[in-house]
Amino acid sequence: LATLREAASTSGKFIGTAVADHRLSDATYSGIAAREFSSVTAENVMKWESIQPQRGSFNWAGPDRLMQFAQANDQQVYGHTLVWHSQMPGWLANGNFGATEMNQIMNTHISTVMGRYQGQINRWDVVNEAFNEDGTLRNSKWLQVLGPDYIANAFRAARAADPDAKLFINDYNTDGINAKSTGLYNLVRDLRAQGVPIDGVGFQSHLILDQLPSDYQANLQRFADLGVEVVVTELDIRMRMPSDAAKLERQSQQFARVVQACLNVSRCSGVTVWGFSDRDSWVPGTFPGEGAALPYDDNYQPKPAYNGILTAF
Ligand code: XIL
Repeated sequence: LATLREAASTSGKFIGTAVADHRLSDATYSGIAAREFSSVTAENVMKWESIQPQRGSFNWAGPDRLMQFAQANDQQVYGHTLVWHSQMPGWLANGNFGATEMNQIMNTHISTVMGRYQGQINRWDVVNEAFNEDGTLRNSKWLQVLGPDYIANAFRAARAADPDAKLFINDYNTDGINAKSTGLYNLVRDLRAQGVPIDGVGFQSHLILDQLPSDYQANLQRFADLGVEVVVTELDIRMRMPSDAAKLERQSQQFARVVQACLNVSRCSGVTVWGFSDRDSWVPGTFPGEGAALPYDDNYQPKPAYNGILTAF
């Protein structure tokens, strides 16, 4: 099989990538994104600070560009993200809102953004990164002003805005069985029992070389057993720089193990990598001294990890 998307589709799964809007004009970049991937996620342009930078004024240029790119290349779109503590615009982060107004702000954002792309976005991260490492809810502005019900209310608003979209909660460091993932598991179980419309769980999987949790597949499976879809939403496997041949080979095997875990869990619908080239990755800027986390190198040449993913599918 010639491409990642052909290989994934043969296995009934999607393979996605985050797309950096400012790189789409580069033909090498957009060529690989189009050829190799069957799903795209906006790396930044569907986040609140980008899409509603001032209250009531929406910026559709970036999101529309991604939708057009996806349509031109026969790709699914994974919506990211609606309710999150990070990358909030100043007016929202610093505003002094009571619960009624904050709830209105949340509902308006969800209905406006999801409404614009109704029927065109298969899955949405409705709530992102709601948990602390100990499994309690993160003390975000959402929790402070609205209380823990903000999560259920966000999902209800999302279902009303686009009944065709599958609604996800997404988080990091929930990739193995631990306190954080168990907090998330208990929440998803309770929401489902209460009839709250939640369809899936996203596992960001920002992993560290040689630290892929041994219970990765078992963790996906326990969520799947709740009856929800699971997706690996932001996969990268970073290493201490410089990289070398031995590290790149282990990285390839670890990418393959993640793909294999998704293949082994029937409710896992696909795997998205958080960008495809080391040149564009968020890792070096976020984790100083680390990098080389993606399947293509700085020159858009495939690394061993590319073959690891391809052959695992
Ligand atoms: C990151 C982007 O890759 C960066 O470009 C941006 O500066 C910060 O956000 N969890 C998420 C993603 O849900 O949205 C984050 O993306 C990475 C961590």
